[in-house]
Amino acid sequence: MTGPLRFGVLGCADIAVRRTLPAICSHPDTTLTWVASRDPAKAARVADRFGCRATDYAGLLERDDVDAVYLPLPPSLHLEWGAQVLACGKHLLVEKPLAPDAAQAAELAQLAAESGLVLRDNMTFLHHPVHARVRELVAAGRLGEVRALHAAFCFPPLSNVDIRYSRALAGGALLDAGVYPLRCAQLMLGEQLRVAGAVLREDPDRGVDLSGQALLVSAGGVPASLAFGFEHSYGSWYTLWGSTARLHLDRAFTPPAYRQPVLRIEEQDRVEELTLAPYHQFEGSVGAFAAAARDGGRDESVWRAAALGTLRLADQIRDLAVRVPAQPRRGQPIQPAGSRAATGISAGHDGG
Ligand SMILES: NC(=O)c1ccc[n+]([C@@H]2O[C@H](COP(=O)([O-])OP(=O)(O)OC[C@H]3O[C@@H](n4cnc5c(N)ncnc54)[C@H](OP(=O)(O)O)[C@@H]3O)[C@@H](O)[C@H]2O)c1
Repeated sequence: MTGPLRFGVLGCADIAVRRTLPAICSHPDTTLTWVASRDPAKAARVADRFGCRATDYAGLLERDDVDAVYLPLPPSLHLEWGAQVLACGKHLLVEKPLAPDAAQAAELAQLAAESGLVLRDNMTFLHHPVHARVRELVAAGRLGEVRALHAAFCFPPLSNVDIRYSRALAGGALLDAGVYPLRCAQLMLGEQLRVAGAVLREDPDRGVDLSGQALLVSAGGVPASLAFGFEHSYGSWYTLWGSTARLHLDRAFTPPAYRQPVLRIEEQDRVEELTLAPYHQFEGSVGAFAAAARDGGRDESVWRAAALGTLRLADQIRDLAVRVPAQPRRGQPIQPAGSRAATGISAGHDGG
């Protein structure tokens, strides 16, 4: 393959318009050729904004000037459309979660492995250099022995019509927000994690979880306490607690591209703050995806296994969870219905 990786986008989602399409357009190794929507007028609007062409979902799959498809559909549709993308010989960047459960994720992973195509979930925080720096500090013994991980991704309630409140579309806080602290635990404590217990607070009418907590334990016996949800004030952070020091990172999962991450390391009688350079993690994600595609998808098994691992943990949490009824706010949309995807100008829940 020569030239930039040519992306088509299947679904003009809020996150696509706000974050991923600008990143595809600005990264030198990627370009946007087509956008597809169920609604022709919406596709035309988005295509006009990003300087590409518009079609529908089926039309996108037939384009031979599309090397890779970015798929930001609701999770319940990831397998159905993702399988068609791979069958058409196109690389596939799927929004997180890869699928609603591990069985569907494994089907997608199998199809990608058989066809030699790149399949990744768009877990953008993994590309931010700040987490590699944390791992270096831990490996160098800066915290002593790691004794615990605490991680959280929570935000306030969304519009009543948001896909996250739909059971049929595989909404819910665990799949939408919980996958961030889960993947963080995998990154910091290793893939051999087990779920020791969990609580899910569920909306009894809509049948989706609005928030929850889970306790995991690593192969080395380190516990991880994880919180997620959309009924809290905003929080996106993790703390690694060692025998000699504690490291905290705020705005860990969805920092704006201009934010300088600050690693705060607290000891008994001393605090050190390390300020790192800002980084555009959506550009990092599409750039790494393009590099993997250029490499012919040769070394993709690690990424696929991690994405699958996240959903195995989510399955375990659902199996083990103590479920309690939550009392959702009724009739008071936090944002007017349709303000997100329809306009593409909302700030969104990711703090950007
Ligand atoms: N990586 C990140 O930081 C990040 C951040 C936010 C969200 N996400 C993920 O991105 C995905 C989309 O989230 P979002 O907030 O962008 O959602 P959204 O704005 O509701 O977008 C979903 C899109 O899917 C398409 N769609 C197809 N069938 C649909 C149906 N039956 N109901 C609703 N939409 C349907 C629509 O596109 P058309 O109308 O154009 O066909 C819609 O715009 C989710 O998997 C979410 O977890 C990732």
